[in-house]
Amino acid sequence: MTEEQLARGLKGVVIDKTESSKIDGKLGKLIYHGYDIHDLAEKSTFEEVCYLLWHGKLPTQKELDDLSRSLAENRALPPQILQIIDLVKATHPMDALRTGVSALATFDPDTEDNSPAANLRKAIRLTAQTATIVAAHERIRKGQKAVAPDPSLNHAANFLYMLKGEKPDAESARAIDLDLLLHADHSSNASAFAARVTTGTNADMHAAIVSAIATLKGPAHGGAAQAVMTMTAEIGEPERAEQWVKDAIAAKKRVMGFGHRVYKTEDPRARHLRDRVRHMGEKYGQVKWFQILSRVEEAMAPYRERGIYVNVDFYAGAAYSLLGIPEDLFIPMFALGRMPGWITQILEQWADNILLRPLLKYVGPVDLPYIPISERK
Ligand code: ACO
Repeated sequence: MTEEQLARGLKGVVIDKTESSKIDGKLGKLIYHGYDIHDLAEKSTFEEVCYLLWHGKLPTQKELDDLSRSLAENRALPPQILQIIDLVKATHPMDALRTGVSALATFDPDTEDNSPAANLRKAIRLTAQTATIVAAHERIRKGQKAVAPDPSLNHAANFLYMLKGEKPDAESARAIDLDLLLHADHSSNASAFAARVTTGTNADMHAAIVSAIATLKGPAHGGAAQAVMTMTAEIGEPERAEQWVKDAIAAKKRVMGFGHRVYKTEDPRARHLRDRVRHMGEKYGQVKWFQILSRVEEAMAPYRERGIYVNVDFYAGAAYSLLGIPEDLFIPMFALGRMPGWITQILEQWADNILLRPLLKYVGPVDLPYIPISERK
């Protein structure tokens, strides 16, 4: 490819090989290292998916127990990180998360060691600690004390415990576990690409995760779940959904939670969150969100022939809201789920590293005469 051949947005450009995840946009299929997302959603857990992505195989019981224990043992934050979170408590939770991870680099004994063994230790610490940062920031900004992690709980249950200060019921914990697992990796998405670019310069894992978090923050990547809940509140009642969609389409607005760059059929992750939201809504006596979202889906049916189907974000926001998670935590939730995938792609990049350095086509002026400052007007 030369400077003359533009690939704006890198659309359709294959940048490297991966064994981590594969999306088939036509069939609506997603696999993590060979395993169908539907099987993993029904039978697996976040911890098991971490093992699968980082080691390229499903763990034995002992391997899973060892990883789960290591994650649980590495959740605590250095006290200085809690002080930093307190200093920046008024900021957006994504900025607090990015700042917290950046500061963690100062305290991690392996920051400068990029060997495979050190990178795996950092993978465990960072996956565990990021959940603690998000929960601690949420509590500190509300004037509450951060809750110390409980090593007897799994990653998802412990996150809810640190967030709310009480142990969650099994169903709420499983809803978070499922949500994290469904977000764990998604091929060359913008934030994973950012992590690869940073790793390509031989920068360390903390630096690459900071890049990924910064990139996920943008509304074109991580922000749609929140926008769906804003839309749901605006619609207000299920019977208003059809007209709302008609008006939005007539005004050439995007209906949030629909459409995808790669999937031209239903995003396979959406099914599992739809089922959860229906079930949790019935259990908690809060069915209105599900009813509104279902009616929006029905109203969008005519657009399926154009490849516009529901995506993962459509039901994710309602699932978080049913669990009492505030809207500005939706992107951090995505980040916590995506941690294993970012890390896997950083490990893959390290295994056969290359500088990611594309070209730009220069379209500025040339051959301008240099005018001394005293003669410039
Ligand atoms: N609502 C209405 N129309 C849509 C939507 C939508 N959500 N998505 C695409 N379209 C229409 C566009 O208006 C366009 O129509 P046109 O050809 O008449 O101009 C056509 O479909 C193609 O749209 P593009 O933006 O070119 O498609 P692309 O594949 O680049 O966009 C994107 C994908 C950005 C996700 C888009 O579908 C969108 O904006 N969706 C809403 C936001 C959203 O849900 N984002 C989350 C994505 S999933 C994730 O990141 C986890």
